[in-house]
Amino acid sequence: MKLVLLGAPGAGKGTQGEMLTAKLGIPIISTGNILREAVRNATPVGLKAKDFMDKGLLVPDDVIIGIMAERTARDDCANGYILDGVPRNAAQAEMLEANGITVDKVLLIDVADDVIERRMTGRRTCSKCSAVYHIISKPPRVEGICDLCGGELVVRADDKPETVRDRLAVYHSQTEPLIEYYGDKVVKVSVPETSSVAETGELVCKALGID
Ligand code: AP5
Repeated sequence: MKLVLLGAPGAGKGTQGEMLTAKLGIPIISTGNILREAVRNATPVGLKAKDFMDKGLLVPDDVIIGIMAERTARDDCANGYILDGVPRNAAQAEMLEANGITVDKVLLIDVADDVIERRMTGRRTCSKCSAVYHIISKPPRVEGICDLCGGELVVRADDKPETVRDRLAVYHSQTEPLIEYYGDKVVKVSVPETSSVAETGELVCKALGID
């Protein structure tokens, strides 16, 4: 399975991606996590990406394609992959294809903007392994500490309300057109505000036809 997770910032791509990678036994490739690690380590890619990310803008396409070509060439991608947060626009979709990074299905996680704005204030992310939590809907066992690796949970720099609004605008103008681009490869899951992480997971599995 070569699956793309599509959806607005905060729609739950990372959260459902963690569930899907465990169920399907294929790696999840999150360009956001790769870029944040590069920023933390002040690598050349990180130094190039930081300003764009802080402003909620897309990082230049050539940086992303470089990351993707290197990551998908690794052995663990031989049986498929889950792409989280990439492609972000038609140019990236075309560049992926041109590099032999193909797509079987696109899971569109559809959440209303106002629900997303409310959600994002509660997100906490592990500073070591990037696992995602929420202070209400997915709290860690011990406040401020990652269940998986014991790392410190932090608020992401781009989760400030004004940056979230900018990221939503970028999503609607640049990423949403990919729904039409991928056509009948798209499987849409509409997530109501009342749907918990587990309930959303059930909707996702049903839509993708997996147990
Ligand atoms: P990226 O890291 O990809 O961020 P994003 O797409 O904006 O998505 P998020 O990670 O914010 O949200 P998510 O959908 O994964 O939601 P989550 O599961 O965490 O990108 C960040 C930046 O990097 C970009 O702005 C850009 O600058 C750059 N970038 C990355 N890729 C790029 C690319 N290809 N090209 C150019 N630039 C790129 O869930 C959100 C919260 O809600 C969590 O707290 C979670 O616990 C909670 N939650 C999830 N589901 C539910 C539910 N059903 N009910 C209640 N709470 C829920």
